[in-house]
Amino acid sequence: MKTVICPGSFDPITNGHLNIIERSSALFDNVIVAVLYNPAKQNFCFSPEERAELIRRCTKHLPNVKVEVDSGLLAEFARRHDAVAVVKGLRAMSDFEYEFQQAQLNKKLNNNLETIFITTKSENTYLSSSVVKQICELGGDISDFVPEEVRDDIVKRIKRGVN
Ligand code: PNS
Repeated sequence: MKTVICPGSFDPITNGHLNIIERSSALFDNVIVAVLYNPAKQNFCFSPEERAELIRRCTKHLPNVKVEVDSGLLAEFARRHDAVAVVKGLRAMSDFEYEFQQAQLNKKLNNNLETIFITTKSENTYLSSSVVKQICELGGDISDFVPEEVRDDIVKRIKRGVN
């Protein structure tokens, strides 16, 4: 049984994230979506537990997917869960440089851990959690960008201006 990890900040989950999770779920026995801490990001709209709850809500149809929150290193999280690989979505070459460095670092920290890249669907190349938050904040419609199950909660939170 092979377990892989789909890690990220997920503040909040987007259709782009969900597509990568669904494709990972079709390829591997078990998928753990890990809501982790990215020190480069600040002013989160949702707490880690809230983000995990939103992800659980839109991955209910995927029986081999579970969602966890962790505040430590991805490499250690993977070791504890006997994961063989990290799966990341790549939107563009600009993602690659950063992801390549992270992959090498994670391999150095956990030699049993591979990183697998899945290219994003073309309609999601411009999509990110930051773009969703910005559109929402400025009163735009995010229906095409986030799963329906979580849309209202995202709109409510961002319109209220809770950070
Ligand atoms: O969605 P993001 O913000 O691009 O995801 C990045 C994330 C959270 C996967 C990355 O920052 C991460 O792995 N954080 C956990 C801490 C860690 O292991 N950092 C890498 C070694 S310094």
